[in-house]
Parts: sequence; structure tokens; C-alpha cells
Amino acid sequence: MPREPKNYDHLIGKIPGLSEAQLKAHFTLYQGYVKKLNEIEEKLSTADRSAPNYSFNEFSELKRREPVAFNGTYLHEAYFENLAADGGTPPESFKKAATAAFGSVDNWLSDVKAGLLSAHGWVLTTWSYPDSRLRNVLVQSEHHVGHLIDQQVVIAVDAWEHAYFLDYGAKKADYVATVLKSINWKAVSDRIAMSGLAMTFK
Ligand SMILES: [Fe+2]
Repeated sequence: MPREPKNYDHLIGKIPGLSEAQLKAHFTLYQGYVKKLNEIEEKLSTADRSAPNYSFNEFSELKRREPVAFNGTYLHEAYFENLAADGGTPPESFKKAATAAFGSVDNWLSDVKAGLLSAHGWVLTTWSYPDSRLRNVLVQSEHHVGHLIDQQVVIAVDAWEHAYFLDYGAKKADYVATVLKSINWKAVSDRIAMSGLAMTFK
């Protein structure tokens, strides 16, 4: 069954610093990833697997592009769902995990900001299962390059130019500062409840 894009119109006019035009442009881009993921999966279902090739082969190329569309779909959903105008405050479990990993919640936030200004893509705050700690994962390129294994996404922040350029132009740091004030901690708490973080930091 092809997946349908989710609707995030309820965010329009509700997130300080993100205009309707900016959000709508971003929704359209996200919908494109959903469409391409469906297309890739449909083509993979019947692709000829008899001549895979590193340089070029249809099956091989579909497999190489699958993570871009997959992560492009689900990271955008994570991002839109962890935005809110009044999203509450970090739960105690998050504060404890951030303090254990970074020294303090403020240090965690500084690390997120530094990561977002270090590359042109995503920074994901994750619960890292291999070493049982909170991490800020810098996805350096597209939506997958640099992602670590076995990470539960707790917060996703999109800092690709398309996320802010209509509103901020080249003032990326201003976008980063603004968007990090609009974290939906209620949504984050739900993710924490499903992760190892909740069991480690009660
Ligand atoms: Fe994006």
C-alpha cells in the first residue's frame, strides 16, 4: 500500500518565526519524499535483480536512493511533529539524560546549535542504544549520510536551506535559535517513553 503524506497544516501561523509560505514550501518538499519513497518501493517490487552493478543498474540505483527517500519522509515527520508554539518543558528524564551526556541541558542545547551550524542538514538528538546515552547526531549530507546505527530519534531539527531560507535568507543561526524555542516537549516525551532513555533515566 502506498503511504500517504501526513497533514501538518495545524502548524501554520502557530510557530513563531516560521511563516505560512515557509512552512507550506517545506510541506510540499516533504510530500515529494513520500511520493518518491512510494515510487522506489513500487519499482523495487518488480526490479530485475539479475545484473546488479556498482556503476549503474536500475535495481542497484533504486537501493542506493531508497535511504534518501525513506529518511527524507520519516525525518520530516519527526521534525514537524516535534514543533509546537507552546510545547511545555523538557521532562525530568530528558534533563537527567542530557546532563549525564553533556554536563547540562544548556550544554546539550549548545551542542545541537553547533552541530546545526557545522553542516547543512539535520541534527538528531537520539537515544543511542549501543552506548546507552543521549547523542546529537549530525547527518552531514542528504538525509542519511552520517547517521549512526541503533539510534532512537528523540528530536529532529532540519537545517537544510529549504527549511528557513524564505524567512531568514542566509541568517541560519537566527532560524536555529528560533526553532529550538519551539520544541514540542509533549511529543518528545512520547518518544522518550518508547525508548531506552525512559528505562535508564526515570
Ligand atoms: Fe526539510
